[in-house]
Amino acid sequence: MENVFSLKGKVALVTGGSRGIGWAITRALAAAGAHVVVNGRDPKALEARVGELAAEGLSASAAAFDVGDEKAVVRVVAETAERHGHLDIAVANAGINHRVALTDFATADFQRVLDVNLNSYFVLAREAARPMIRQKSGRLIVVASMMGPIARPGIAAYVASKGGAAALTKALAVELGEHGITCNAICPGFTRTDMTQIMQDNPQITAWVEGRTPLKRWAEPREVASVAVFLASDAASYITGHSLNVDGGFAINA
Ligand code: NAI
Repeated sequence: MENVFSLKGKVALVTGGSRGIGWAITRALAAAGAHVVVNGRDPKALEARVGELAAEGLSASAAAFDVGDEKAVVRVVAETAERHGHLDIAVANAGINHRVALTDFATADFQRVLDVNLNSYFVLAREAARPMIRQKSGRLIVVASMMGPIARPGIAAYVASKGGAAALTKALAVELGEHGITCNAICPGFTRTDMTQIMQDNPQITAWVEGRTPLKRWAEPREVASVAVFLASDAASYITGHSLNVDGGFAINA
């Protein structure tokens, strides 16, 4: 029987793919059979990751650029599509947070978070859509957050950027559907990565996360990554414009 989760022969690009959720997604897409172009800012870290995958017999290449560098995004997407003849999956994952009370929140910091977490998602999706429209198929995957539909104090820019990313997902889905392109968002809950290390190190916050989450634990990055494989695969061929919570039930727990 055909494996509807196989990504054999597909080409994917993952931003912020050298660590955390992005690395888990990179690894999972490659393990499902895709060639993954893995982005980050540190060429050495990327080469090390590509080497790890190669050692497992998986296919990947490195593309070092800052997602805020629009020219680099345009160039890498075009080069990837040209080199492989197609680009099937683009995952907008690179993200940052800035934690500070509203009255101390500098406009420049608000803008910086929006630039990485939202503007870069728009640029990646626009550029990836070009080859996907030509080939009449494609999967755009946006890593949003359960922050957006719900919020916490002290992360105004993050919440705004992630709410925007989920809204962008719908805009892309309705515009690109006629070209055979789907766009969906993954909304992770509290996940063990460098981004949340400061929270994991705080026993009060950890107790609150575990107490409030119906599954009573943090997410591991691989649990988010498997959802990206699903959304990129034939198994999700009729799903578009959706935001999928991967939060252990956090957001629906009263
Ligand atoms: P992380 O901090 O471990 O990894 C973020 C990655 O993005 C890093 O590889 C970093 O180098 C890269 N990155 C940041 N700015 C970049 C830029 N300008 N250009 C290129 N790469 C850049 O964080 P984590 O947790 O893996 O986050 C990944 C995504 O998941 C983010 O969009 C984050 O907002 C989202 N997320 C994370 C949650 C968590 O609990 N860890 C929960 C919900 C969403």
